[in-house]
Amino acid sequence: MNVVCIGSGYVGTVTGTAFAALGHRTTVIDIDADKVELINSGNSPIFEPGLDSLLPQLVSRELLSASTMFGEIGFADVVFIAVGTPSQADGTVDLTYVKSAARKIGEHLNREQLTVIVDKSTVPVGTSDLVASIIEEASGLRANENFAVVSNPEFLREGYALEDVLFPDRIVIGTEHPGARIVMRELYRNLLERTNYRELSRKVAFKMNLNAPKAVYFETDTKSAEMIKYVSNAFLAVKISYINEVARLCETLGANVLDVAKGMGLDSRIGEKFLQVSSGWSGSCFPKDTAELLETSRKYGSDLLLVEAAVDSNWRMHTNCVDKIKRQLKTLNGKNIGILGLTFKPNTDDARHTQSSYIIDKLIALGANVAVHDPKGMEMFRKINGHLPVRYCQKAEEVAERADAVVLMTHWEEYAALDWAHVRSRMKNPYVLDTRNFLIDHRLSELGFRYEGIGI
Ligand code: UDX
Repeated sequence: MNVVCIGSGYVGTVTGTAFAALGHRTTVIDIDADKVELINSGNSPIFEPGLDSLLPQLVSRELLSASTMFGEIGFADVVFIAVGTPSQADGTVDLTYVKSAARKIGEHLNREQLTVIVDKSTVPVGTSDLVASIIEEASGLRANENFAVVSNPEFLREGYALEDVLFPDRIVIGTEHPGARIVMRELYRNLLERTNYRELSRKVAFKMNLNAPKAVYFETDTKSAEMIKYVSNAFLAVKISYINEVARLCETLGANVLDVAKGMGLDSRIGEKFLQVSSGWSGSCFPKDTAELLETSRKYGSDLLLVEAAVDSNWRMHTNCVDKIKRQLKTLNGKNIGILGLTFKPNTDDARHTQSSYIIDKLIALGANVAVHDPKGMEMFRKINGHLPVRYCQKAEEVAERADAVVLMTHWEEYAALDWAHVRSRMKNPYVLDTRNFLIDHRLSELGFRYEGIGI
């Protein structure tokens, strides 16, 4: 099939690469000429494990290419809209890029055959109708005759994006148009049947489990598909907020949240996933998606009180970390704090809206001097938070120089591999706050640290 993917951000680049790997001739379109040039020269515009090895192979086999021009839409069977959907100040999603992609599609649509337009970006319920009306206006064609708009939300996690796209739990297809359903089944056939997966497993850098259960292919109407994406993310956010609150209670009562979470997760109705304690959830999806869902629910007078509570609880979790450090150091004024981890989770360079930025901001406001390190996220963090007067360290142990506290924010493997005895020797006051309970097996107390996790 001929596939076009508009947008070369996280979702667009991964989606384009994955469908090319599944054997479809895929063109990624982006107005940013630098990103297009990167892809065409075999380089990924984003960091995501596995992309750097797979993407160049697909470009050299001419299965994947990129362009700043929209003409390829006229030859496409399927056009993905995978552009950015940033949050506006009131929490609702800014659909400017989605609307402009829809207009471009309308201007270049093939008039001879059905083209399926797929909303891949996370968009508010009802956006498919909006996209259809913009395309109708720009093309003079009619929805569900010459083209159909389908919602096919993306559930990939950053850091595991390729794995999640190639081995999804479920594929949700939102359309009641029979022709579009046939096209979408054909598009996903190689994925559902795992055609050529053995060969693919030799090309990707991560270990593919070819025996993993196959994806469930679920067809529904457009609005329900759009809804599934939002309420799934909100549910996961609620789940994390819940275990984080339980962690705080465990601390007070003297229980151990690691065992509590394990015991809970053994109930298959609850499950073990998303019960890892942290300084709160963050990133480019959960905060944005919960905010949009809450705005929508308020607008229609159908409150989602649980989600509202989870968001509130998440802010408190960030603040709780600052309070913990303050309790240990008495005052933060003039204290040196080393931060390990700026990204919202490991294996990504994504430093947008992170727990770290919120906590660092607070620490600085309370008079602390902050030194930071992240294996991948420093560049993006600096770009977004240029106003924050932090010391950027090229090596992790440098954050410990004369530090009164080291705070582990992101559980990068390289932090587990640090020479912690050496870290201790550089610190003025050997206090470590481990917001992920990640270093629990390192017996830092035995190395002379005052070690604190959360809920343990
Ligand atoms: C999420 C969804 O998982 C994915 O399905 C959707 O498509 C996009 O949003 P992502 O934002 O990449 O993916 O990250 P995820 O792994 O879900 O983590 C989100 C945040 O929650 C991170 O800050 C992470 O550190 C935190 N988290 C996650 C916890 O604090 N505890 C957990 O148990 C799991």
